Amino acid sequence: MVTHYLSAADLSRSEAEALLERAQALKAEWHNGGHPQPLLHGQTLALVFEKPSLRTRVAFEAGMTQLGGTGSYLSANDIDMGGRESVPDVARNLSRWVQVIAARVFKHSTVEILSEHATIPVINALSDREHPCQALADMLTLLEHRGQLQGTRLAYVGDGNNVCHSLLLLGAILGVHVTVACPPDYRPDPDVLAHAERLASTYATEIRITTVPAAAVEGADAVYTDVWASMGQEHEAARRRPIFQPYQVNAELLKLAQPDALVMHCLPAHRGEEITAQVIDGPQSVVFEQAENRLHVQKALVLTLLNC
Ligand code: CP
Ligand code: NVA
Repeated sequence: MVTHYLSAADLSRSEAEALLERAQALKAEWHNGGHPQPLLHGQTLALVFEKPSLRTRVAFEAGMTQLGGTGSYLSANDIDMGGRESVPDVARNLSRWVQVIAARVFKHSTVEILSEHATIPVINALSDREHPCQALADMLTLLEHRGQLQGTRLAYVGDGNNVCHSLLLLGAILGVHVTVACPPDYRPDPDVLAHAERLASTYATEIRITTVPAAAVEGADAVYTDVWASMGQEHEAARRRPIFQPYQVNAELLKLAQPDALVMHCLPAHRGEEITAQVIDGPQSVVFEQAENRLHVQKALVLTLLNC
């Protein structure tokens, strides 16, 4: 069983499917107005965040509250991980007080170091390499709309970034064929890609990388995009804009996908850049369902890691 969740590849297909099933049950209970059992009574999740967050933070905090536990948010200003105190010492201290850590970090190695020195589960709440909680919510959203994941075609158009990496890995595991269209210099990381390709071969999934958005989107069941410059890359935004302009998800591009293709974005979005307002606010958009599903998958994830 998984002890930490640092990468979308940390779950086997059966573990990922079980987690999504649990999330669906929690979601159904939530929508039926039921009161979830206080399975996490007296338990605390530490949120160690080096970068801003709306969805990830609130989904974890609300999720803990709903399950009878609590979240303790620690920003860079509070603990200055790696400055005021070493990353291993932060892990050792938190392990004495709380039951699980969710960390949002600049360098992926920071979540790895935390997990090596913590005696409690560590969750990657976004790093420069991956955003595995997001990918879980995205797969749940896809499953709800398509009825199944295996054989579904997802086109990711834009930067080969953390969100793209986790989609490639979890897609490969769950049988979702992922095609990435990105500018030549913004391909997914070669190591992550190689890992995703190995998983794709294990689980009979297809992965393709192209520089041509139309080629990726043609016939797709879902079209996904993310910002062109991620947190920590803001200084590159102006230089990237003209490079990424041909990768904008707009009505013309969307026409090439299945007529009922889902429009997906992890948010926050920059309307008029990576996606037009018409498309993200249009009838095919499921971006706020993705956002809601963060709550359900993250509750399922914490329960799973704590064997509850
Ligand atoms: N999608 C996502 O992770 O949003 P936040 O950065 O607001 O947490
Ligand atoms: N790729 C984006 C995702 C934000 C949720 C970033 O890392 O800033």
